[in-house]
Amino acid sequence: MESLSRSAVICSISRTPQGPSPPNSLPSTSTFKGNFAPVAEIGEAAQVSAIEGGIPEGFPQGIYLRNGPNHVYPDLTAAVSVFGRTAYTIVEGDGMIHATYFSKDGEGNWNVSYKNKYVETESFLLEKNRKKKLFLPTITGDPSAVLASFYTNMVKCGQPVKFEANTSVFEHAGKLYAISEQNLPYEVDPSNLDTLKSWDVNGTWDRPFTSHPKRVPHTGELVIIGIAIQKPYYVLGVILADGTKMLHKVDLKFKTGVLVHELGVTENYNIFMDYPLEIGINRALAGNRSLAMSKMKNLR
Ligand SMILES: [Fe+2]
Repeated sequence: MESLSRSAVICSISRTPQGPSPPNSLPSTSTFKGNFAPVAEIGEAAQVSAIEGGIPEGFPQGIYLRNGPNHVYPDLTAAVSVFGRTAYTIVEGDGMIHATYFSKDGEGNWNVSYKNKYVETESFLLEKNRKKKLFLPTITGDPSAVLASFYTNMVKCGQPVKFEANTSVFEHAGKLYAISEQNLPYEVDPSNLDTLKSWDVNGTWDRPFTSHPKRVPHTGELVIIGIAIQKPYYVLGVILADGTKMLHKVDLKFKTGVLVHELGVTENYNIFMDYPLEIGINRALAGNRSLAMSKMKNLR
C-alpha cells in the first residue's frame, strides 16, 4: 500500500459519455468500434519495454490507475421489443481498471509493467457465470421500452440497473475503490486488481455513492453525495479519515431526482450543485425520457 499512497491516483473516463439520444435516434452499430472499442483483459501483468521519451527526474514509484467502460459484448447495441427500443450506451460498459506500475531496482533502474482487469461486481459475475448479456439498457430509448428494461432487469437479475463500477477510482484510508454513481464502491486490490467487496462504510451508507468524492483539506475526511431515482433524492455524507464510519449524513430534501456528477470541497464549505438534469422512473411512467434536461429550471 506504500506505493499506492505515494502515487498520484488518477481518475478519468477514457471516453466522453454520450448525452441521451432522443427516441428512435439510437446509436448505430459503430458505437463501440474505433476509439470506443473495448480492449481485451490481458491476465498477467506485461512488462513495458518501449517507452517514448523518458520518465521525469524525481518521478515517484507507484501505480497510475484509471477506470473506464469496456463492454464485454460490444456487438450488442440495442434491445428491441414490443415496447420499443433501448440502446446500450458507452457509459453502461463494464468497468475495467488499467494499472501501470512504476518501480525501481536497487540500482535505480525503472521497471514498468501494465495490467488491466474487469471490476467484478455482482452484476458482472452474474453475466460472466451465465456467459451472456443479461441486463437490458436503461439510459436511453423509448420511454415504454426503458420501463420494460427496468422491470425485466428486476425479474431476471434482481435489480433494475447493472452495477458497472466503471467511472472512476479513488483512495481512502489506504484502500483503493472502483465506483460508478448508481451503486456502492468496490474495493480493489491494487497489487493484482482483484475485486474484493463492496464498501458500505461499515453499514453506515446504504445508497448510491458519488463517482468523485473529495477529501477535506487538513482533516482527511471524505465528502460524498448519493443521488437516487427515489426519495431521498440527494444525500450528502462525510466519512471519517480512517474510513470506519460516516461522520455526518444529511438529506438535502430535493423534490425530484437530478443527475449530479460532481461536488466541491474547501476547508470550510461543501459545495453541491443542483443541475436541471432530471432522472427517474417517474419520468418514464409519465411518458418522458428517464433522463433529460428540464426547461423549467436553471443550474444553481
Ligand atoms: Fe467524471
